[in-house]
Amino acid sequence: MASPHLESMPVAATAAQRAAVFPRVRWMGSKYKLLPHLADVFEEIGGKTALDAFSGSGVVSYLLKQQGYAVHSNDYLGFPATVAKAGVVNHATRLTAGDVDRIIGPRADDRDFIQRTFSGVFFTAEDLGFLDSAWSHIDNLRGHKRAIAIAALCLAAARKQPRGVFTLTGDLSRYDDGRRDLRLSLRDHFVERVEDYNRAVFNSGQACVATAREISELEPKKYDLVYLDPPYAPPADDNDYTKRFHFLEGLSRYWVGDIIMHETKSKKIPKRVTNFSSRRTIEVGLRDVFKKFHDSTIVLSYSSNALPDRATLEALLREFKADVEVRAIEHTYHYGTHSAAKRRSVDEYIFIAR
Ligand SMILES: C[S@@+](CC[C@H](N)C(=O)[O-])C[C@H]1O[C@@H](n2cnc3c(N)ncnc32)[C@H](O)[C@@H]1O
Repeated sequence: MASPHLESMPVAATAAQRAAVFPRVRWMGSKYKLLPHLADVFEEIGGKTALDAFSGSGVVSYLLKQQGYAVHSNDYLGFPATVAKAGVVNHATRLTAGDVDRIIGPRADDRDFIQRTFSGVFFTAEDLGFLDSAWSHIDNLRGHKRAIAIAALCLAAARKQPRGVFTLTGDLSRYDDGRRDLRLSLRDHFVERVEDYNRAVFNSGQACVATAREISELEPKKYDLVYLDPPYAPPADDNDYTKRFHFLEGLSRYWVGDIIMHETKSKKIPKRVTNFSSRRTIEVGLRDVFKKFHDSTIVLSYSSNALPDRATLEALLREFKADVEVRAIEHTYHYGTHSAAKRRSVDEYIFIAR
């Protein structure tokens, strides 16, 4: 234990258990299953401030909050920042029964952008109508209430969409295995998902922030701990988050400012190309990030079936850090976007660079 304030922290196992209540979204590469391992590592490192630079589903930011850190949660997408605002930055605000009744009640205006744009693409007409109607009220909310309402609405949509990805369009009845998540209306989902977020709210006493910036735009600031969980570059396929989750991203801001690619089947929004988008440039991207945070303890998650490989990553970290340790954890992925995707057992590496 490296820091005096750890005495007041819950032990790692308790923190991991508490973090598991965080509303679960099926996000490519999410670390729900690795929480106990990450909690151990974070507890060993200690300190007061932490950056979760590629926050995704937000569950690791929430774990860091449970462990007493002042957390900066960041992802280049807006949806993860909203989720982090609702569950990490927010220490006290919940949606009341009255708030929920208003949002699921009669619409406040006659907007119909979602129905017009996504009819025949995703969900039923009734569900799409609910999303427009819910947004007619959410637009009048501010602050953390707004963040919880948006996070719950997005989580409702993510749970109801087969496989949780928005590359699948049209008639998806072949995916209907009777699961409750697929049957529930988005209105009923929303009510339950608000309860999930309300339950996750707690006051850690440490000020947290959430941002939606591309990693190269973050300030080169010193944190006690910088957690890096970048997109893994698979040898085949791509690692593009916008392609899979564009609907959640658009829904999180009612597509305000977005350009919809109407020629695409799923009505995507354009992806952002960065050094992390391709295996040709990912090493440059990683080196830049290691350099930027060279005076913080860096914890990096990476997978054994992605590029660059373990030896390359260790060498890159050693350019900036004297002490690099690697832990390998066997991990089974259940994630896939096509029928050929199976459960794969791979090693999930945790690099600890001090
Ligand atoms: C492996 S996921 C993180 C998963 C997260 N730790 C969790 O447990 O849910 C990688 C994340 O990096 C984000 N991302 C991709 N490229 C980025 C970039 N250049 N800058 C910042 N975030 C980026 C993606 O949107 C995605 O959420």
